[in-house]
Amino acid sequence: MTTLLEAPALLEATALLEATDLVRSHREGETVTTVLDGVSLTVNRGEFVAVMGPSGSGKSTLLHCVSGVDQPTSGTVRLAGVDLDGLDDDGRTRLRGERLGFVFQDPHLLEALTVLDNILLPSALQADGGGDQLRTRALELMEVTGLAGLAERGVNEISGGQKQRASLCRALLGHPDLLFGDEPTAALNSAASAEVVELLQHFNAEGMTMVVVTHDARVAARATRVLFLADGRVVDEHRLDHGTDAAAREQQVRLAMAALGV
Ligand SMILES: Nc1ncnc2c1ncn2[C@@H]1O[C@H](COP(=O)(O)OP(=O)(O)OP(=O)(O)O)[C@@H](O)[C@H]1O
Ligand SMILES: [Mg+2]
Repeated sequence: MTTLLEAPALLEATALLEATDLVRSHREGETVTTVLDGVSLTVNRGEFVAVMGPSGSGKSTLLHCVSGVDQPTSGTVRLAGVDLDGLDDDGRTRLRGERLGFVFQDPHLLEALTVLDNILLPSALQADGGGDQLRTRALELMEVTGLAGLAERGVNEISGGQKQRASLCRALLGHPDLLFGDEPTAALNSAASAEVVELLQHFNAEGMTMVVVTHDARVAARATRVLFLADGRVVDEHRLDHGTDAAAREQQVRLAMAALGV
């Protein structure tokens, strides 16, 4: 008898991101540098995948290739049912704007705008606007992320942690299918970092699928799965048991990091 788990159509339906055999190389004169060397990655709906590895191992490049920011030299990326290879630059830009959210080390907020307008800006720039509904959603997100009452503040009147939480609101405003993070806590002090980590786990528990690059075991401990890259290849992978407490999972991540010399 075929169980539900074995039914290929259902498995396919839950795979939000499928990257196969990604190679990304750069040519400078006669020299070719291979940054991704055959990476395959499947992310199912609801997963929180942390990507770790030494500096230069290709983590950001992987994120860029699977999110349509960069194009792999070879290999395929299927994202939310769409083949990235079949899209031109405009198509990839639209897919990123409509289906994906991004948080980076730097929150990239515009100083000339209020906190609320920064959160609204990318969606407001998209063709269909959405006015009041977007504003309501932005204010709800600000409430959840502890930014209530700061809507009309200038960017220079809030802390680094608050800025990063505002960038998280901006990323989530359009109900993306997938949230990508590239070291979102790297520039924060440990208290502000802990708040962002809690929020990532909160939004994942609410169903947001995430792929987050991090050097921080405390961030990775909140993931459902941790991938380790070295020299452009996946060299290790751990599923984290959320039946255990966060400290035990953090220990599991630290042991894996130590074993790989990360
Ligand atoms: N345009 C480029 N031309 C040549 N080499 C590049 C280019 N972009 C990136 N690289 C190289 O690719 C490698 C991987 O870079 P990447 O930014 O993906 O690493 P990373 O794992 O994110 O590192 P970090 O932890 O420092 O952010 C690095 O050695 C980098 O120098
Ligand atoms: Mg990087």
